Amino acid sequence: MINDFIYDIPVRIYFGKDQLSNLGPELKKWGKRVLLTYGGGSIKRIGLYDKVIKELKAADFEIFELSGIEPNPRIDSVRKGAQMCKEHKIDVLLAVGGGSTIDATKFMAAGALVDFDPWDFFDVTKRVPVKKALPIVSILTLSATGSEMDCGGVISNPETKDKIGAMYPPMLPKASFLDPTNTFTVSPYQTACGAADILSHIFEVYFNVNLDLYMLDCFMEGLMKTVIKYTPIAMREPENYEARANLMWASSWAINGFIDGGKRQPWSCHPMEHELSAVYDITHGLGLAILTPRWMEYCLDQTTVSRFVQFGINVFGIDSCLEPMAIAHKAIEMLSNFFFKTLELKSTLTELGIDSTHFATMARKSVGGGTLKGFKPLKQQDVENIYKMCL
Ligand code: NZQ
Ligand code: ZN
Repeated sequence: MINDFIYDIPVRIYFGKDQLSNLGPELKKWGKRVLLTYGGGSIKRIGLYDKVIKELKAADFEIFELSGIEPNPRIDSVRKGAQMCKEHKIDVLLAVGGGSTIDATKFMAAGALVDFDPWDFFDVTKRVPVKKALPIVSILTLSATGSEMDCGGVISNPETKDKIGAMYPPMLPKASFLDPTNTFTVSPYQTACGAADILSHIFEVYFNVNLDLYMLDCFMEGLMKTVIKYTPIAMREPENYEARANLMWASSWAINGFIDGGKRQPWSCHPMEHELSAVYDITHGLGLAILTPRWMEYCLDQTTVSRFVQFGINVFGIDSCLEPMAIAHKAIEMLSNFFFKTLELKSTLTELGIDSTHFATMARKSVGGGTLKGFKPLKQQDVENIYKMCL
């Protein structure tokens, strides 16, 4: 069955290497007082900070800065940013960085307009929805999360050991600048983790019980092939513009809502991974790479095999004459090889120093006390089993 859906993603994209002159005019639409947010300093090392400041000064903006946003961004950074917006009467926020910076900035923009603690947007007992936010513009420096073109964000609270995501339309960036050259300096490791994240965003939709929009299947398979083709090139040749450009645009389209096409199936690997990052502060994409092939093996049975067959044949070019189960296993094996051999990511949680101590709690939290109603319904025990398969 094809469900009705609304597609409405009004993010203006400035794509390419000579777009920064549009920054001033774009920001001016939203006001004069800008809060520039960024992470641990990579934007200074790559020279982007100076270029941005030059544009902002030339256009006469009043600039305020908040740096130090962590990978797996913390609620304290959000609190700080929201407070700064209030104190300095900020008109617009400019997030320069990867998903962590953009995510945190979204909730600063929302926190700026409320009187309560921004953690109330996440706290499972409250879950206050974001109804309004200050305008946000982003300059992306890492292809992975798609935060530049979606309305979601994921924030960690080290005190409660939670990492929780939420999506609200008011936090959609007004515009995003996607210059592939800004990703030339992304390390091979972060490039690989970014690729695993992009692929996972596609898998969460592709491996679905609603399978009717053939056009979107083809689109998703094209996105997957793009990531599989260009990630090793970007790792080998970090300044390969074609590779970086393909990954950048793929990251946005993997999660901007287009591929959903009315499929409302909840995600599976992401809730499981967020618990790993919450407790062990690991890189999101790495956690996904380790979990995904195990999750696939766990879900594979006679009711799901045809999806893996399509994936194996169309994405990895596996011989369609083989038995369906053989194709499915081969497809999962080829994905594992891609993650752990081609991209050289660590393949087990044990290698990250993680043991089963917290698995039961993490599994309980990831299913929210019920069932993950994804491709295959997963209860707490199922999630715990999948974590154990990753050891
Ligand atoms: O902090 P800085 O110094 O900027 O360094 C970062 C950071 O150490 C570095 N980096 C970024 N751009 C660089 C660079 N280094 C060199 N050159 C550049 N051009 O890379 C490191 C990782 O950055 P981060 O922003 O954490 O990575 P990513 O973009 O993968 O974001 C991950 C976060 O996004 C969340 C994840 O859970 C995680 O917290 N997600 C957000 C989503 C969304 N908004 O829709 C969806 C995703 O599924 C994901 O959950
Ligand atoms: Zn993700």
